[in-house]
Amino acid sequence: MKTQVAIIGGGPSGLLLSQLLDKKGIDSIVLERKTRDYVLGRIRAGILETGFVNLMREAGVSDRLDAESFAHDGTIISNGDDQFHIDFKELTGTNVVVYGQTEVTRDLYDAREAMGGKIVFNVDDVQICDAKSDAPYVTYSVGGEPARIECEFVAGCDGFHGVSRRTIPDEVRKEYEKVYPFGWLGILSETPPVDDELIYSNSKNGFALCSMRNSNLSRYYIQCSLSDSVDDWTDDAFWKELKRRIPKDAADRLVTGPSIEKSIAPLRSFVTEPMRWGNLFLCGDAAHIVPPTGAKGLNTAASDIHYLNNGLVQYFLEGSSAGIDAYSEKALARVWKAERFSWWMTSLLHRFPEQNAFDLKMQQAEIEFLRTNRDAQSVMAQNYVGLPY
Ligand code: APR
Ligand code: PHB
Repeated sequence: MKTQVAIIGGGPSGLLLSQLLDKKGIDSIVLERKTRDYVLGRIRAGILETGFVNLMREAGVSDRLDAESFAHDGTIISNGDDQFHIDFKELTGTNVVVYGQTEVTRDLYDAREAMGGKIVFNVDDVQICDAKSDAPYVTYSVGGEPARIECEFVAGCDGFHGVSRRTIPDEVRKEYEKVYPFGWLGILSETPPVDDELIYSNSKNGFALCSMRNSNLSRYYIQCSLSDSVDDWTDDAFWKELKRRIPKDAADRLVTGPSIEKSIAPLRSFVTEPMRWGNLFLCGDAAHIVPPTGAKGLNTAASDIHYLNNGLVQYFLEGSSAGIDAYSEKALARVWKAERFSWWMTSLLHRFPEQNAFDLKMQQAEIEFLRTNRDAQSVMAQNYVGLPY
């Protein structure tokens, strides 16, 4: 097989890139390790920046998103029983939207199918070959049958555990990582959200987050020990602990119910540099990971895809390599700002095992400064709604 761009990974990054390229008449093939249903079975976050929404509109995949998403003009930060509101709309003139990232992926799969996009599922043993040459190719197997794709470029959209990042030689790659000493225990419940907006809570018992998918599907998280397992937490134990960590008024009105999904996720900050090696480009989780506190995972993958799509369109339609040559530096500039914000919000709102009395005072002073200073709130709001591409 031949294509212009071989895309490794059929998650939101790979699918969005394939769709955007197709809209400009640029051919791609997506290689996905799992099945479509498996990919769509992943529970993911639900906050989208306007920049991501605009990309979905550019890709022609925003009908359901525009119809079913709802705007959040701000968020609530709580510190013990104190709480205050950060007004994104008033501070930045824009907002975020709530729409499940699983639904984003579903919409992208439907769009690729409608356009006859080429996606190969259940691939094994993907290898990216001759990425530094002018004739890179990808080998893989499906159903035990070997296959090969000749291409001009490879987009590594295969997530943190994919093959793309590891294709760049160790002596070329520089990796930066911070692993946090706690996880997030999350549940999904068919109950009405506890508030119209999200509640990010720092309590003496640890972090909690009250989020949602729609008016009868709520998503809640509590900080937990890395030694915890889901089996350690009955639904009742989760609800009891969540109520201890959110303001009393919210705890009193919280509607509990059986969990329809319950899982524990570790928290990590990670960046690999460069995001380009020859004709291989890394996008999304293949290149960087953020702790979910700032809801920056998909929203940072989006700007990677924006830059790479523009660069590839410029190359194929105008014959200029300026965009792809600038990709890594341009993408990393925004990646590191998202990493900083995600680290800052995580440091602000979680209780760390090694925190001493002074550390706690610093954290409380930071929250109090955010509560009382408009400029501090503006900085947070600008980062949360999404920095410019
Ligand atoms: N070959 C083919 N496919 C692979 C391989 C491989 N060797 N390794 C991984 N994959 C596939 C995975 O099965 C997955 O479907 O690549 C895809 C990567 O998707 P994600 O991990 O979702 O990464 P990405 O598309 O960059 O999504 C970025 O979206 O939902 C949010 O918060 C989430 O931060 C994440 C963001
Ligand atoms: C979610 O709804 O899953 C969610 C929302 C905001 C976050 C993280 C997760 O910061």
